[in-house]
Amino acid sequence: MIKFCILIFLFFQSTHTVDMDFDAIMISDVIHSIERPSALIATLCWPVYKKFHFFSMLGGNNTDQLNMIQFAEFNNISNYNAQPQHITFLVDLNCPYISEFIEKNIELQHFRSPFRWFLLYNSNNENEIPDVIDSFNILPDSEVMVIRKTDNETYNLYLVYKINNGGMWRSELFGTWNKDNKLIKTNDMVEVTALRRSNLDDFQISICYVVTENDSVNHLTDEVNDHIDTITKVNFPTTNHLLDFLNASRKYIYVNTWGYLENGTWNGMTGYLVREEVEIGGSPMFLTSERIPVVEYISSPTPTRSKFVFQQPKLSYESNLFLLSFRNTVWYSSIALLLLLLLALFSVAIWEWKQTKHDINTRETDSGILRPNFADIVVLILGVTCQQGSPVELKGSLGRIVLLILFLSVMFLYTSYSANIVALLQSSSSKINTLDDLLHSRLKFGVHDNVFNRHYFSTATEPVRKAIYEKKVAPPGTIPRFMSMEEGVKNIRKGLFAFHMETGVGYKFVGKYFHESEKCGLKEIQYLQVIDPWLAVRKNTPYKEMFKIGTKRIQEHGLQSRENRLLYEKRPKCSGSESSFVSVSMVDCYPALLILSYGTIISIGLMILENVVHGRQTIVKRIQRTYKGGNYRIYNSAN
Ligand SMILES: *[C@@H]1O[C@H](CO)[C@@H](O)[C@H](O)[C@H]1NC(C)=O
Ligand SMILES: *[C@@H]1O[C@H](CO)[C@@H](O)[C@H](O)[C@H]1NC(C)=O
Ligand SMILES: *[C@@H]1O[C@H](CO)[C@@H](O)[C@H](O)[C@H]1NC(C)=O
Ligand SMILES: *[C@@H]1O[C@H](CO)[C@@H](O)[C@H](O)[C@H]1NC(C)=O
Ligand SMILES: *[C@@H]1O[C@H](CO)[C@@H](O)[C@H](O)[C@H]1NC(C)=O
Ligand SMILES: *[C@@H]1O[C@H](CO)[C@@H](O)[C@H](O)[C@H]1NC(C)=O
Repeated sequence: MIKFCILIFLFFQSTHTVDMDFDAIMISDVIHSIERPSALIATLCWPVYKKFHFFSMLGGNNTDQLNMIQFAEFNNISNYNAQPQHITFLVDLNCPYISEFIEKNIELQHFRSPFRWFLLYNSNNENEIPDVIDSFNILPDSEVMVIRKTDNETYNLYLVYKINNGGMWRSELFGTWNKDNKLIKTNDMVEVTALRRSNLDDFQISICYVVTENDSVNHLTDEVNDHIDTITKVNFPTTNHLLDFLNASRKYIYVNTWGYLENGTWNGMTGYLVREEVEIGGSPMFLTSERIPVVEYISSPTPTRSKFVFQQPKLSYESNLFLLSFRNTVWYSSIALLLLLLLALFSVAIWEWKQTKHDINTRETDSGILRPNFADIVVLILGVTCQQGSPVELKGSLGRIVLLILFLSVMFLYTSYSANIVALLQSSSSKINTLDDLLHSRLKFGVHDNVFNRHYFSTATEPVRKAIYEKKVAPPGTIPRFMSMEEGVKNIRKGLFAFHMETGVGYKFVGKYFHESEKCGLKEIQYLQVIDPWLAVRKNTPYKEMFKIGTKRIQEHGLQSRENRLLYEKRPKCSGSESSFVSVSMVDCYPALLILSYGTIISIGLMILENVVHGRQTIVKRIQRTYKGGNYRIYNSAN
């Protein structure tokens, strides 16, 4: 029954309204033409039948586009249950109390991206900008369409905005609508709002750069001292391209730090962005969790990382080369072989000695015959193992065969052992792979002296990183090892030194100071827990979308990579074939020297012991002689 009534009602109403009021048809045409899902929030003082008509027009038979509508009251801005990018406000400016409503929405930042607005406006004066919004700032990131009714059947549609706060109003003709032709869109209308408005007409944009040395300001583009403030020098030309792209004039502000939170306020470049004194932070900075709430990151123009770089230390720093050249099983087998030969030699010697017992003459006079004495045979085996030969031998054929086997097998063992040692002397260790290895290695440490290294090293909280700072970089009571890039790279070359530097810049010095073959063993370990630096802009800047599009274009056109390649060096390539030989140092021979010195000490000890024993024996002999000589007194008293 109710349905029926509504239908009747609609029928009567629509027949006599359609010909005099085209608002509903026009708006649904416009919304359909935009081809985006809309959650329409309509604040209209229309009669119910007109709202109803509008509702059915909006639905239409278009199923591709999702449209919702919610009729809101004046003075009541409730929570809207839609995603912000779908929300579209529709306001009839001829309704009462409309200025309060607009004011409230301005306060709530609803006239900003991503909300959209349709302002219905039928006034007879020629002014494109409705009086209600005239005093407010509607910035380039907003999409506000003023729909002006010129007569009963024609509408003009404009998008209006101001480039900056307090600037001139600008309008873009979206199209016209009339009863017969319906909506006619302007042809040359670029779809993307940010691109359409990207000519800022010489509006001044402030941009902040970080220069850690005052002199860098004079050398931003001439490649003098390009290892200082490299990140700023790389991005100075490209951020200027960006401002050219926007046809904006510029104002540079130089600060000496990227900005950190101190006592609740931000200093440096981040401080300028937070205080909204600049739009762009021209020097990319690290994306940290403290900064994300206060600035907006738009792109990562320059991939660069800071890392610990060092030469892999020689193997002999880590382990004993003299044991390393054979595997344990080979050692055990060699010893077993020698023991076996020792036994064989011993039994053959005993046997031969028995064979020659009749020939006592030769046996006594020929000192070249091996006697079946265990100590003699052990000394012989040792001598042979050390490739020293032996003055004694076995004369029988069986004995000679055993000796031959001994000499041959020991020679092969010796050859492979020394070959292995030579190979191992040239190889470097690959044991340092993590920060923890680095902390427990014997390497010395250095850190490039710049603002962010000083900040992140001293505020590290993760245990290993903290330990590296406290034990290696700045041990208590010493000067912290922050140094210039040049000094650090020279120290890397000397070896046993890990230097924390921006690799792209540091490799320039590596190219300058290192020999070709020395570039091979360089190893990198990352310390800072951050990714590549990002370009930051002010939070809520109305030009964010333009900045994003501009930086992307600069990257796509290769301008950014030109600057990056100019000032950042890639990791040097290792031309391995011509690697030179590393000279042997004390460290390599350390175990051998150790054995030599222990041997010397033991032999001196033995010599002293021998002398003592000998001395004692001579004294005893002398006493015995005296005793034989007839001095009975001692004997008696002893008795
Ligand atoms: C509905 O669809 C028909 C045929 O596709 C079309 O002629 C008509 O204009 C459409 N109506 C609306 C309101 O879109
Ligand atoms: C605003 O509207 C919502 C829902 O329509 C309602 O719950 C709320 O009470 C209203 N607030 C005021 C101040 O009228
Ligand atoms: C517009 O409509 C009004 C009333 O409906 C009428 O008086 C007026 O003549 C119309 N104007 C034009 C230009 O059609
Ligand atoms: C840039 O802005 C100036 C100042 O408004 C204007 O004269 C010039 O035509 C603009 N350039 C371009 C390429 O639009
Ligand atoms: C750099 O300039 C600032 C301000 O002009 C000054 O305070 C500072 O001492 C200068 N630093 C050097 C190293 O010249
Ligand atoms: C932060 O506060 C401490 C203690 O109140 C003070 O010593 C220090 O100078 C302050 N730092 C800054 C940058 O204001």
